[in-house]
Amino acid sequence: MVMNSVHRLLVPLAMAGLLLLSLAYWWLDNVPHEIFGVAVFVLIAWHITLNRSWFANLFRGRYNGRRMFTVLLHMLLIANMAVLLVTSVFISKSLLAFLPLPDSTLLREIHWFSAYWVMVVVGIHLGLHWTRVMMLLRLISGRPSGSATRTWLLRTAALALAGFGTWSFWVLGVWGKLTFTYSLDFWDFTASVAPFFGYWAGVIALPAIITHYLMVIVDLQRSRRGPAPRRL
Ligand code: HEM
Ligand code: HEM
Repeated sequence: MVMNSVHRLLVPLAMAGLLLLSLAYWWLDNVPHEIFGVAVFVLIAWHITLNRSWFANLFRGRYNGRRMFTVLLHMLLIANMAVLLVTSVFISKSLLAFLPLPDSTLLREIHWFSAYWVMVVVGIHLGLHWTRVMMLLRLISGRPSGSATRTWLLRTAALALAGFGTWSFWVLGVWGKLTFTYSLDFWDFTASVAPFFGYWAGVIALPAIITHYLMVIVDLQRSRRGPAPRRL
């Protein structure tokens, strides 16, 4: 049981790490970028296989607002990842360069554009499953429930992280990247490396925190109105 929980968390953790590494194109250079990118897709295939029962149950049971939102978000995530995967195959300069496929500036632009959106959508995906992540962490640590003090400490940490995430959006000019505004203002990796990853982690954390607390509010309101909803 504990090993299964570790496995369920290690794959997302590795995917998050590799996604962050893949963003550092101008630090890594092309070959490592492509290797890490391919590793992300391999792990995603593994992650989907682990969660295959979720897909098998799509047409079973009733849909409420939360379930509808989760399914739509997963569709968006799959579409977003598919665009990143297809453009990767076309623009590859190393690993898949032997494939006789046309490369173009537009495909490269769609590649980075979808990559930046993936970070936001993955953040929302993490936020939707945060309760489950905490549950798995409690199972691993052998502490079934948290104290009220710990809950408030975690809420304060989440608030501070959300503030840092907002600042990271601004530092990295993420809004410009999400609105297809190409900028030559790249991160200067000769000056520093670690803050680049710290800020991007903050960017992923912001939508995760917002989604998690919105879901907490929705669930609270629903449980006040009637029996607690079944978790997806
Ligand atoms: C195309 C990409 C992805 C798809 C289709 C996908 C799909 C899913 C599904 C169906 C679940 C189970 C939902 C449930 O049982 O309620 C899940 C859980 C989860 N996903 Fe993803 N996911 C993707 C990418 C990612 C990435 C990149 C990360 C992390 C960076 C991630 C982190 C998680 C976590 C933490 C959970 C909860 C733990 C678990 O149940 O295993 N996912 N994902
Ligand atoms: C999920 C993983 C991936 C992410 C998040 C990602 C992200 C990015 C980003 C943000 C850039 C733009 C760098 C910039 O101009 O600012 C880039 C460029 C590039 N990526 Fe990826 N990528 C991923 C996977 C891949 C894969 C699997 C391949 C090929 C097999 C690939 C091939 C390339 C190439 C060739 C470029 C350079 C394009 C150019 O010359 O402008 N990427 N990637």
